[in-house]
Amino acid sequence: MTFQNELINWYQINKRDLPWRHTKDAYIIWLSEIILQQTRVEQGLPYFNKFLENFPTVTDFASASETQVLKLWQGLGYYSRGRNMHATAQIVVNHYDGIFPNLHDDLLKLKGIGEYTAAAISSFSSGEARAVVDGNVFRVLARYFGINTPINSPAGKKEFFALANELLYVEDPALYNQAIMEFGAIQCKPKSPNCIICPLNQSCFAFNNALVNELPVKIRKAEQKHRFLNYFVCLNGDDILVRQRQAGDIWQHLYDFPSIETEAEVDWNSLAFVSNVKTAFGEKANFTHLLSKKHILTHQIIHLRFFVLKNYIFNFSKQKELNWVSLGKLDELPQPKVIHDFITECLLNNME
Ligand code: ADE
Repeated sequence: MTFQNELINWYQINKRDLPWRHTKDAYIIWLSEIILQQTRVEQGLPYFNKFLENFPTVTDFASASETQVLKLWQGLGYYSRGRNMHATAQIVVNHYDGIFPNLHDDLLKLKGIGEYTAAAISSFSSGEARAVVDGNVFRVLARYFGINTPINSPAGKKEFFALANELLYVEDPALYNQAIMEFGAIQCKPKSPNCIICPLNQSCFAFNNALVNELPVKIRKAEQKHRFLNYFVCLNGDDILVRQRQAGDIWQHLYDFPSIETEAEVDWNSLAFVSNVKTAFGEKANFTHLLSKKHILTHQIIHLRFFVLKNYIFNFSKQKELNWVSLGKLDELPQPKVIHDFITECLLNNME
């Protein structure tokens, strides 16, 4: 049997019953694909259901506020994906009469849709012959065909894309694409795959050469940057001071608190730190430490410390990103996950 037929046979028996596999609606498939780029199926499912409930059509999505979209996206990380979705929904309404494109070349013009997503949406919704190449596909091809070119190098990308398109089962690209991704997710797993029961093991290069754990090859990324954010919680009765983050840094447009960033982990009792606080929040400002947390992003490791600040002065006319909000309404604002965790685990618990 051919590689393609083996995969499709395996898929028919082992596939999971997932809601986006019962539709050819490009809008619904787009929702699922963007969410699944960010997280695993089990964690993505409730997000997919929530988005579809709140925005049954792309027109509903486009007319939502960015805050509403970011709130629904909260917890998935990489918030530019949420913002790009909002922009794309608006482009579809304004330039495509609210009909989500289902052809690869049109899809590529939308925001947040790259080669992978365009291939996935077009093949699943219109049956266009485009091979998907995601992490699962890289792994299956690298192992089965014994390819050791790094998957994150330009040469590797070219080689794997060419092979994937050569292998594409053109009679049913949607079925084949789902099959190879599902096979990578369930059978040809990154760690400790159970190769003994794999129907493709006889002809798998990695299995026959004891290279399953060596493939695929990936070039190591540059080291992650460490950042040190000191957050200051300011309370006034039932109100709390929040800041909406601006463009040009992580967590754009999400809400957190006034902060001071330092180059290193500075002792909070040190003169240097106290002097920083007084420069930022006035001579009389004083603070007490509440909690420290570490949060890992794709390219940055964030060290956070939370303080309660008292006797502060703010210049609200200069700092338009600052606003008082009642504690009861705080949860309506989209926040970075680590800030949301701090609020629910520490702040609100201690206020009761
Ligand atoms: N990951 C990305 N796209 C997927 C899909 N359509 N089904 C399951 N997992 C996926």
